[in-house]
Amino acid sequence: MKKKIVITYGTFDLLHVGHIRLLKRAKTLGNYLIVGLSTDEFNAEKHKSSFMGYELRKELLQAIRYVDLVIPEKNWEQKRDDIRQHNVDIFVMGDDWKGKFDSLQEYCKVLYLPRTQDISSTAIKNKVTNGK
Ligand code: CTP
Repeated sequence: MKKKIVITYGTFDLLHVGHIRLLKRAKTLGNYLIVGLSTDEFNAEKHKSSFMGYELRKELLQAIRYVDLVIPEKNWEQKRDDIRQHNVDIFVMGDDWKGKFDSLQEYCKVLYLPRTQDISSTAIKNKVTNGK
């Protein structure tokens, strides 16, 4: 069977059902799923801080049956090189990123999948911290 490679990116902090659904749908688009996982340093650049560090987030992602490979996402610019290096067929993101990565269409198919409503790492953090 020909390898059909899908790639997606994110922080995947406090792993939740929105992440799992996104990964599940991404995997069904092909048969090999790569996740570019934002490093703690890259998150700091984005003024974002995760509750769980990179290694823990990676360990959880690697335990998910839909995920075949986790690579570090260290900057905004690496996507094109990742796509080439890993012979990626499809680039997938949640539709909160709709249109943002259309320029990658030069290298592979680009798809945006609908997000799961009413859940996010930020919402979980707020709920646990403030009770709302
Ligand atoms: N995602 C999704 N549904 C959600 C939350 C996230 O489909 N409810 C998708 C995003 O669109 C993205 C991937 O999961 O493609 C990783 O998202 P990430 O930003 O790590 O998760 P969030 O929960 O949105 O985190 P934050 O609150 O920090 O933005």
